[in-house]
Amino acid sequence: MCGIIGYIGKRKVVPVLIDGLKRMEYRGYDSAGLAYIRDGEIVAVKSMGKIARLEQQLQDVDAESHIGVAHTRWATHGEPNEKNAHPHLDCTGRIAVVHNGIVENYRALRKYLQKQGHRFTTETDTEVIAHLIEEYYKKDIPFIDALTSALLQIEGTYGLAILNADEPNKLYAARHGSPVIIGKGEKENFVASDAAAIIRYTNRVIYLNEGEVAEVTDDGFEIFTLRKDRVKPEVQKLTMTLQELEKGGYPHFMLKEIFEQPATVRNSFRGRLNLEMGTARLNGLKSHLDVIEKLKRIVITACGTSWHAALIGEYLIEELARIPVEVEYASEFRYRSPVLDDGTAVFVISQSGETADTLAALREAHNQGVSVFGIVNVVGSTIARETDAGVYIHAGPEIGVASTKAFTSQITVLALTALMLGRRRGIVSTERGYELASHLAKIPEKIKWILDSQTANIKKIAEKYHKKNNALFLGRGINFPVALEGALKLKEISYIHAEGYPAAEMKHGPIALIDENMPVFFIAIDDLMYKKVVSNIEEVRSRKGKVIAIATLGNEEIRRYADDVVYIPETDYLLSPLLTVIPMQLFAYYTAVLRGCSIDQPRNLAKSVTVE
Ligand code: F6R
Repeated sequence: MCGIIGYIGKRKVVPVLIDGLKRMEYRGYDSAGLAYIRDGEIVAVKSMGKIARLEQQLQDVDAESHIGVAHTRWATHGEPNEKNAHPHLDCTGRIAVVHNGIVENYRALRKYLQKQGHRFTTETDTEVIAHLIEEYYKKDIPFIDALTSALLQIEGTYGLAILNADEPNKLYAARHGSPVIIGKGEKENFVASDAAAIIRYTNRVIYLNEGEVAEVTDDGFEIFTLRKDRVKPEVQKLTMTLQELEKGGYPHFMLKEIFEQPATVRNSFRGRLNLEMGTARLNGLKSHLDVIEKLKRIVITACGTSWHAALIGEYLIEELARIPVEVEYASEFRYRSPVLDDGTAVFVISQSGETADTLAALREAHNQGVSVFGIVNVVGSTIARETDAGVYIHAGPEIGVASTKAFTSQITVLALTALMLGRRRGIVSTERGYELASHLAKIPEKIKWILDSQTANIKKIAEKYHKKNNALFLGRGINFPVALEGALKLKEISYIHAEGYPAAEMKHGPIALIDENMPVFFIAIDDLMYKKVVSNIEEVRSRKGKVIAIATLGNEEIRRYADDVVYIPETDYLLSPLLTVIPMQLFAYYTAVLRGCSIDQPRNLAKSVTVE
């Protein structure tokens, strides 16, 4: 969602803020703005669209200022125009606020503040925060007191960075429901919603906890609760590197991340596979294994691509460990009073570890007294910290808004979990465990084979179909969720309407859509359902649909049925999603390139959805 950054210290502030915003642009990109203090006054500059436009506006400004805040926006309240871009100021123009989150009671607060004489200039929920602080900031009241009093009135979520022109040597930050970190430097300090914004300058960070406020100067900071109790900060070291945040010669982060998958999948299982014993070891879950292996039911909850990974996890865990699994959209789970009885545990899956719906589901599960385990990418994220235990997927920073490498790493960790549970429960034999573990160990080289030998072919297929308005993705069994993921990828970045379906369900409705303009992707690998899938292909062909088959290397027969074929190497059926999804990611990518779409920052989307 929105990205925020604040800086105070020895450097000129504008370049630091612009650099930080660029590294967070993937969080939101419909407008951007910054504010700094110069000669005791706040100067605010805003712009519609991407950070580059804001940068252009500032190119002749050589501001001698060393304190400021900035924001990249994904609109929630109010159109994404210049006026509604952050920072938002109070009536005096001496308090500037950048905000990630939603003020749910902003209408009531706005009405109240208007009655007190405050003049509003935007349609945003955030502007009430600036005016509310102003309302409390009276003679003899310290700013920090005005700030905490204002925050106590706010319902909703916030990650905030705030300037007060009366205190040009202090930066304020606060957190409730949206992540905020403080970066600790030498004679300089940072506030940010995202480690990517500050890693260039420091890797020492403090994660603010819910309901905490920070007062930051260039050589230190103090953290309080909203009731003004002092909090002892815990400094942690970030593991991400600047290099991981660069495109490394690729035209887009998405393509880089697709091509990183041989390495990222390997990182997900590195040190976790025990070939000899035919099992896996997940230290993050170690102290809870006695409970997990006896579970009567597992509920996995997540959103979007992570939800698709969860569906694959359902197949894996049920097949290998024979524990019943249910998969729930996190956004639905929290509102439908789920039954979480004894013997049930919840797993949450999230790349960012900040998705508001998933976090709310986690909290709902905790409220009901069940254990919650996490499968998360971003180290130190809120979900990672609030779960009882969990496993990091180690995919490294994912910047492209369309999730790719996180998906394959999530599946890898789910496969490890299922294998480990299956072995512990005595359902998977050592031989079968060995077989699966060996297949998993070979997945990186097989992904590489697809990338090396099929990319040109997929590009051609994209050339053929990129002007179509619709597409269908069909798969069966464990590859049905991959069909959903293929459709989601295409929708997200190329804006082509696409549907994913279980192949056999097609005849119960979607078949009505088939004509010569409909490309239909079939996952038709050599598994138990291959023959049935071929029958489904025939049904499409006889209605003149165009068939693109993702088939097992060596299957020449499929060419008789399909207009185009993309091959993947053979692997264990249970691990096949790790391969079948790669052509779909590439197809979505090249289609979007040909359609001139914004690959890493598709319209209306944000990388980390921190509002409900
Ligand atoms: C799709 C995509 C989204 C996310 C979803 C959950 O490409 O990126 O659908 O998967 O917003 O995000 P996380 O995994 O960060 O909780």
